[in-house]
Amino acid sequence: MSAGAWTRAWSPAEGAERVAAAFAEHLGGAPDGVWSAPGRANVIGEHTDYNGGLCLPVALPHRTYVALRTRTPDDGLPRGTVRLLSAQEAGAGLVTLDLADVGPGTVRGWAAYAVGVAWALREAGHDVAGFDAVVDSCVPYGAGLSSSAALECAVAVALDEVHGLGLGDDAGRARLAEACIRAENDIAGAATGGMDQAASLRCRAGHALLLDTRDGSTRHIPLDLEQHGLALLVIDTRAEHQLVDGQYASRRAACERAAAHLGVATLREVTDLDAALASLATLPDGDVVQRRVRHVVTEIARVEEVERLLDAGRVEDLGPVLSAAHASLRDDYEVSCRELDVAVDAACAAGALGGRMVGGGFGGSAIALVRADEVGAVADAVARAFAAEELPPPAFLVAVAAGPAARV
Ligand code: GLA
Repeated sequence: MSAGAWTRAWSPAEGAERVAAAFAEHLGGAPDGVWSAPGRANVIGEHTDYNGGLCLPVALPHRTYVALRTRTPDDGLPRGTVRLLSAQEAGAGLVTLDLADVGPGTVRGWAAYAVGVAWALREAGHDVAGFDAVVDSCVPYGAGLSSSAALECAVAVALDEVHGLGLGDDAGRARLAEACIRAENDIAGAATGGMDQAASLRCRAGHALLLDTRDGSTRHIPLDLEQHGLALLVIDTRAEHQLVDGQYASRRAACERAAAHLGVATLREVTDLDAALASLATLPDGDVVQRRVRHVVTEIARVEEVERLLDAGRVEDLGPVLSAAHASLRDDYEVSCRELDVAVDAACAAGALGGRMVGGGFGGSAIALVRADEVGAVADAVARAFAAEELPPPAFLVAVAAGPAARV
């Protein structure tokens, strides 16, 4: 492979060993178990999930691991006590808090994603106690590959199991995803849409997950790129993105305003784009809102097109659809940035069949559909383009559709 920096996925044994060892060292004794949950790459369908639309993520082999032990009556601590340690934020030390004190705005930083899940499960009526946990992850942090959702979902499946909540089947996992979304929206304060949690909890190895966010229904579409001599290269630009900043929320607000103006529940219900655009022209910021809506409506159509292409076995033909999505995200939705554009342009110039930014945008990662034997050459070309632009070097990984959150 190429000389660039490749982000390695840990084996399950390696991930489990890391968190179990840190657990013994910092919290003492053994956890009840180790659970893990994957990050995701989204093949197509960006900024559609909070618009009742479609998206098509795959789970990554890169996962977040959590060693967790539930509170017991004889451990000498109040039942609501949570003690948490992140191996990646070891400097922050052990975070100790009580579940009774958790609520919107009360927890800051990474711990909000973990305790937020316990809070949301309690809000949903489940009897969830405090716990001790150590987390560690090989999902690149802040890279637009859902490191936050991986953390939430690993905690969610752990709490489900230690409390026997019975949320292990797909319907249960949809409930767990809802709890994770509430954790992220209400406790961590990021107004994200739900694709990432569904991907981490409901994906299937070897498949992309077609998620219809209108009703939460899913379809698993086989995605064996290797069989077609192809690979999905993920380019982590290392331009750190933040979903808790205002840009994501302002895109979401514009979509909601547009839907209200058009008299529809969500932009998914827009059936005549031209008529919708004409109507939106009357808004004071009509030009901007028109472009936001055009992205969402055309992006949902692109997901449907990719579904048809995959069903027909025409995987190579995904390339131009990915590139069209990038142009729409860059020009109409305005969530790309220089690093993402350099990554996509350089990959395509080096022979990728197509590419686009993934996730929320403003940094993070891009994907490129490449011939399997050209992965290294395309990565090298992207790394050279970054150097020529005097950008810090990107990192790479290959997205092979992996399995969902589970006990290790
Ligand atoms: C982030 C959010 C998701 C989704 C994407 C954009 O990843 O967490 O809910 O909105 O951005 O598609």
